[in-house]
Amino acid sequence: MIWLIGKRGMLGREVEALLDRQKRDYIATGAEVDITDIKQLKEFAADKPVSWIINCAAYTAVDKAEDEPEEAFKINADGPSNISKTAAYKNARLIHISTDYVFDGTKKGAYLETDLPNPINIYGKSKLKGEQYIAENLKAHFIIRTAWLYGKNGNNFVLTMLKQFREKPEVRVVTDQWGSPTCASDLAEAIIRIIDLNSGTFGLYHFANEGEINWYQFATEIYNLARIEGLTGRSVRLLPVTTDQYPTKAKRPVNSCLSKEKISRDFNIKVKPWKESLASFISALKID
Ligand SMILES: NC(=O)c1ccc[n+]([C@@H]2O[C@H](COP(=O)([O-])OP(=O)(O)OC[C@H]3O[C@@H](n4cnc5c(N)ncnc54)[C@H](OP(=O)(O)O)[C@@H]3O)[C@@H](O)[C@H]2O)c1
Repeated sequence: MIWLIGKRGMLGREVEALLDRQKRDYIATGAEVDITDIKQLKEFAADKPVSWIINCAAYTAVDKAEDEPEEAFKINADGPSNISKTAAYKNARLIHISTDYVFDGTKKGAYLETDLPNPINIYGKSKLKGEQYIAENLKAHFIIRTAWLYGKNGNNFVLTMLKQFREKPEVRVVTDQWGSPTCASDLAEAIIRIIDLNSGTFGLYHFANEGEINWYQFATEIYNLARIEGLTGRSVRLLPVTTDQYPTKAKRPVNSCLSKEKISRDFNIKVKPWKESLASFISALKID
């Protein structure tokens, strides 16, 4: 049986929707089972035949984390540590989600799983610590680092842009941070694929949609698709700006493109191009 942790988050909802569509045997929990409390985790799991745990729970407020490092580390480091100990206690396998923000962004080209992490903000540091605890506590783990995640629920760049296009005549977007967007439903499918293959190739994996772009290019495509799908009727000017002109509390890596070669090869996953996934996503929003 699969245990999905973090069912009310952006990714958690997509994973749960997929588990429902596929009529899988699963249980799902949200904040009522607190991942920072190992006793709660073990008590919940005690009488259940859990063979896989998917952890989508996290502290994801990147800027706020700079002011709340203890809370970020409690949820992103101690939480995964507790979950991996619970997985070991149940003899279950764990799929945990991490982030491109474990990298400092100085590499030219896409990051491989073998590249050394060097996070430049508290969120990235707390997520890296979580990865390290899992690797120490549990052999049977898959850590999937993803990036620029968007989905139907929760705060994300695509929904924020669509809202801004409805409300503002001009929208400023940075051009000097590069990465790969990830449609949460594509990641959900990759997660289930890993479970189905049930292989012993444990360790670190990167997953995002195919393609390397900056936020301005991403916003431009969102705008074009929103116009085509009739999600915004007005004409909006997109203004390219630099990170210096758009300061945020937490520093972000200039380049956080992730190589998907390893996950494609080991699990025979065909990673979709970012434009294709974005087009399906925006088209489905229109129908909803
Ligand atoms: N969003 C991105 O752009 C992005 C990029 C790269 C990687 N990631 C990673 O992808 C994963 C999924 O992100 P997401 O955007 O889907 O996250 P999200 O929407 O913020 O959801 C996180 C969930 O974790 C739950 N949670 C927080 N603290 C908890 C605790 N102590 N016990 C149990 N549950 C707790 C939250 O519950 P409440 O709803 O009750 O607060 C929330 O539902 C995370 O590991 C994140 O680090 C995200």
